[in-house]
Amino acid sequence: MSTSLHIFVTGAGGFLGRHLCQALRAAGHRIVAPTSAQCDLRRRDSFAPWSGERFDRIYHLAAWTQAGDFCLQHPGEQWLRNQQLNTNILSWWAEEQRAAKLISIGTSCAYDPGLPLSEEHYLDGRPIESLFTYGMTKRMLWAGQDALCKQFGLRHLTLVPSTLYGPAYHADGRQLHFIFDLIRKIVSARRHNTTVELWGDGWQKRELIHMYDFVAAVLYLSDHSENTLVNVGAGEEHAIRTFAQLICEHTGFDPAMITYDTTRYVGARSKCLRTARLRRLMPDFKPVHLSVGLPPVIDWVSEQLVFRSKNSSPNPLTLTRVPQLEQGVKIVSEESDFSSGAVYEGS
Ligand SMILES: NC(=O)c1ccc[n+]([C@@H]2O[C@H](COP(=O)([O-])OP(=O)(O)OC[C@H]3O[C@@H](n4cnc5c(N)ncnc54)[C@H](OP(=O)(O)O)[C@@H]3O)[C@@H](O)[C@H]2O)c1
Repeated sequence: MSTSLHIFVTGAGGFLGRHLCQALRAAGHRIVAPTSAQCDLRRRDSFAPWSGERFDRIYHLAAWTQAGDFCLQHPGEQWLRNQQLNTNILSWWAEEQRAAKLISIGTSCAYDPGLPLSEEHYLDGRPIESLFTYGMTKRMLWAGQDALCKQFGLRHLTLVPSTLYGPAYHADGRQLHFIFDLIRKIVSARRHNTTVELWGDGWQKRELIHMYDFVAAVLYLSDHSENTLVNVGAGEEHAIRTFAQLICEHTGFDPAMITYDTTRYVGARSKCLRTARLRRLMPDFKPVHLSVGLPPVIDWVSEQLVFRSKNSSPNPLTLTRVPQLEQGVKIVSEESDFSSGAVYEGS
């Protein structure tokens, strides 16, 4: 894409937002990227500072959620807040930014786990109970975009990632997405010479997509696709034991020091997005293999989440370039952990 676009990004300070904004700026676009303090999307008047400005694109990344048991603990608040955020951004788009293309981020948690995770089933069946509200608010966002497209001809796109991993994740003490939690547990156990207990038998499978791959897909699909929903996954899932083995190999931790508590609930046995549509739209999309993408992330977690003292401020964007990811794009999960074990369910 050669033209410089005027782009509004919600959720710009989040894990994905920081990476996406960096890539958009590197591509020469003009970005408006307010934090929630500067633009609280729960308020209808939060867009007042940009009244009169016309945007070519709106990336809607903001969502009120976290990993772990957050969704189980806050279903009511999550419904209210996410519906407010989504309704306000859709209203602004429909009333003041009709020329803009709106690109939102969906979730694999919106799918009914009993159905194939392919785009035509996004609204079918029922999301898993523990993530029901989160999944349903994402479905409603998609339904709202579709309705505004039908009535007013607005252009939109929803991209559904599997669980994202990469550097520059949150290091502020919140509950961690499963891969970060698994790394933290193993690195910490190695440091303190203790064992690690994981929930389930370790054979439940999960899918990850590297942040750089996802951002590359977002940039490409934003230019080449519209009025549709596209899953963006690596196309293969791995057992928790495989993730653990890779982390052990990289850190020198003995895998025999990991125990599995098979009495614990572990959620879906398998969770992998179908990516036929993505492969049609991006035949050259080749996500980095875990064995290449994971080691720099393990190093990042070791530095940021384990070895830094609680009071030292985390480095918000330490980007380590993964060589295989440089596929012509200038860019630099939501799964869960429950207490001391690990369920690794949603995203
Ligand atoms: N991470 C994953 O593995 C994953 C997987 C699938 C889908 N997704 C989706 O991808 C998007 C980005 O995920 P992420 O991991 O980057 O999430 P994140 O790090 O939690 O970021 C969420 C962002 O939402 C913003 N936000 C929350 N409440 C807001 C409000 N009232 N007004 C304005 N902004 C508000 C936050 O802003 P402040 O920080 O300024 O408060 C934050 O920047 C989300 O929609 C998420 O559902 C993520």
